[in-house]
Amino acid sequence: MNGAQREFLKVAGLAGKKTLRGTVRTSGAKNAALKALPAALLFSDEVLLTNVPRIEDVSRMVELLRSCLVEVEDVDEASVRVKVGGSCSTVLRRDIAERMRSSVVLTGPMLARFGSVSLPHPGGCVIGERPIDLFLEGFLAMGAHINESDGLYELSAKGGLRGADIFFPIVSVIATETLMMAAVLAKGTTVLRNAAMEPEILHLANFLNACGASIRGAGTTTITIKGGELLTARGRTYRVMPDRIEAGSFLILGALTADELSITDCEPEHLQSLVHLLLRSGVPIEQGQHSLHLRGNGARRNDSFKAFSVRTHEYPGFATDLQAPVTVFLTQVTGESKVFESIFEGRLNYTADLVGMGADITMGNPHQVRIKGPTRLRGAELHGPDLRAGLAYVIAALVAEGPSIINNVYYIDRGYERLDERLRSLGADVVRESVSTSRP
Ligand code: EPU
Repeated sequence: MNGAQREFLKVAGLAGKKTLRGTVRTSGAKNAALKALPAALLFSDEVLLTNVPRIEDVSRMVELLRSCLVEVEDVDEASVRVKVGGSCSTVLRRDIAERMRSSVVLTGPMLARFGSVSLPHPGGCVIGERPIDLFLEGFLAMGAHINESDGLYELSAKGGLRGADIFFPIVSVIATETLMMAAVLAKGTTVLRNAAMEPEILHLANFLNACGASIRGAGTTTITIKGGELLTARGRTYRVMPDRIEAGSFLILGALTADELSITDCEPEHLQSLVHLLLRSGVPIEQGQHSLHLRGNGARRNDSFKAFSVRTHEYPGFATDLQAPVTVFLTQVTGESKVFESIFEGRLNYTADLVGMGADITMGNPHQVRIKGPTRLRGAELHGPDLRAGLAYVIAALVAEGPSIINNVYYIDRGYERLDERLRSLGADVVRESVSTSRP
């Protein structure tokens, strides 16, 4: 017998009532932790990471590092210690790497430190094509050799990588981070142009600089790195920054379903594009230095909020990772809006399920939808295609009339820590259940 379990969430809809109330703490950022763990390969000593979110993608990255013989020790619930021991395997295990896009981040520090790495084409959420040409072109410019056969890439740089002047034809977050890390150990100077400016990149660069790296311009479109030497942490701790996407998702969820909500331990500065739009729409948001509050929101009906159009963009523009939750918001407010997804070509497909729940959404092309609101949503059985759409389904299910079942909880667990438990603490009726899928 195979004892596999399929987990799902049962969500009781609030039928448009705003009864949730309480405080939710923001977790450490998935997309910062997933880069900080591989960054430990740039160090000659051990690195302690704190505020690490306990989510599936982090577990996969830890599994991948351990499979390469990197020592990763759990210190407590939110802290891990990472150390590169005497030997290290540079073969990224196919079964792990194929499940997660960010496995490709490991190639930068690994190739730079050990002179070789082999990997399959990385997998991840089904939101678009997600090629790795920018990484490969960058490594070639830095002197690496690449062989590809049967979907396996073998990269080598026997004498080490050397600095290069690299222009990204497309702005890419993880290509920027991966090549920035590779450049820390490359000989000479690397310049990355048209680089991504996400706050997680600056956060990583600041830590690496504190430990001996020379990275200038992180957080702007041109990053200059002088490389060559392994870094030393000497007891410094990398505290993972708050997850701006999680905080933003809770803000949207709260705007539609909460009477009063406080989101603590977040950085409102990183969420200005969302906060600005929601304020304009009429959502009563108060911003603290490290917190966001919805007060008196219960007295504002969702159909009193005004529609707005949004186009996803690299930071500081509107984050593609908040596009699905904000689309649910727009189905509940008054007016017509357009959502333009400029980064991933498959990231609006989930809207078909919202239409099935009663939303009035028309897809013009794979990058654009038009929404007319407000519409009543009915509970449904849903299968989340990726983690952000999965969260959007939870918001839609909470807003809807009647119960919903959300399958593929694994996707939600990839990026949100104990979501069901945290929603219950706000008064939501969300239960995790499982059924056995075992067959004789
Ligand atoms: N692209 C290429 N070639 C490449 C790399 C990227 O053409 O070699 C294209 C992609 O196809 C896409 C665009 O460049 O059209 C931007 O993709 P990017 O590389 O920036 O995305 P990513 O780095 O793979 C990260 C986050 C995503 C987030 C995007 C955009 C991580 C681990 N992932 O992905 O997060 O949506 O940046 O901000 O940091 C999520 O958390 O749900 C998630 C998908």
